Amino acid sequence: MRDAVRGLPRQLEEGLELAVEPPVSRGAIDSLIVVGMGGSAIGADMLVEWLWDRLEVPVAVLRGERLPRWVGEKTLVVAVSYSGNTRETLTAAASAIEGGHPLVAITSDGRLAELCQDAIPLIRVPGGLPPRAALGYLLSTSARLVEELGLADTSRDVLEGARELQEALPGLAQDADRLAEALEGTLPTVYGHPPFTSVARRWAAQLNENAKLMAWWGELPEGSHNQVEGWSGSLEGGPLAAIFLRDPGESPTVARFMDEVTAVVSREAACHTATAVGETRLGRMLTCVALGDLLSLELAERRGMEPLEVPVIEAIKNARG
Ligand code: F6R
Repeated sequence: MRDAVRGLPRQLEEGLELAVEPPVSRGAIDSLIVVGMGGSAIGADMLVEWLWDRLEVPVAVLRGERLPRWVGEKTLVVAVSYSGNTRETLTAAASAIEGGHPLVAITSDGRLAELCQDAIPLIRVPGGLPPRAALGYLLSTSARLVEELGLADTSRDVLEGARELQEALPGLAQDADRLAEALEGTLPTVYGHPPFTSVARRWAAQLNENAKLMAWWGELPEGSHNQVEGWSGSLEGGPLAAIFLRDPGESPTVARFMDEVTAVVSREAACHTATAVGETRLGRMLTCVALGDLLSLELAERRGMEPLEVPVIEAIKNARG
């Protein structure tokens, strides 16, 4: 798994090379919906936050099998499943085909590849990884697609982000060690403010899956309207901790707000800060993702957990078919 983190910059670069002819011409869609679950959905969340001020049309992420009613003939559906065998994603892709919606699939193989045959454009990413370790491929193939569709220029940012991540990686391992030391024995909640809510979600998922640790994520400012209240009364349950993901690019207003929320939560729980590094927005998001990935692996080691295996997830998926 550590190799996968080290390989993220290369995945990002390689993914950019994997293009397909979109099933619609430039400017012909008025919305885009990405359907995917877990490790196959998080890249789309990151894409939306990274490009929030540049995307020409609304882009939604669906974690589930039922396409919303607003999906119309000018909506492009993008089905992302790394294994190609995730039920929810397959069902949503099948209903896109049935409904005559333009569809693109991103997968390494499986039933999703079969479903596409020659009729549906398919971006095939290299296989053999746990889906959550293929984030680089899934993010950059989606970014390339968005560029092909004329919705936003992305390639230069991806290459720059990959370069910044490559440069930051050696220092991140030490930061992850320090954070793991501080967090051992606690149940963490990870907070991020846009564009870091997707990153906070990724941190929590990696702590769940790699370190087999209950961890939650919260988004700010939304969480300051509900979740923060919970900190005042829930500490009997165990030693909780909060991690605030900070963006050196955040505005002074956001910085003040994050400081205030940290001060409030620190009355109840140990608060930690993880600050992203990098020049560009995407670069900072990626370095922060890598730090969370490394933290989850460090905690997995300390807890004697096998990060590669996810038997509970597999058992539920197998039972559902
Ligand atoms: C496993 C993982 C899971 C999967 C999810 C969907 O590494 O992270 O969250 O991503 O079960 O499976 P795929 O991605 O194959 O569609």
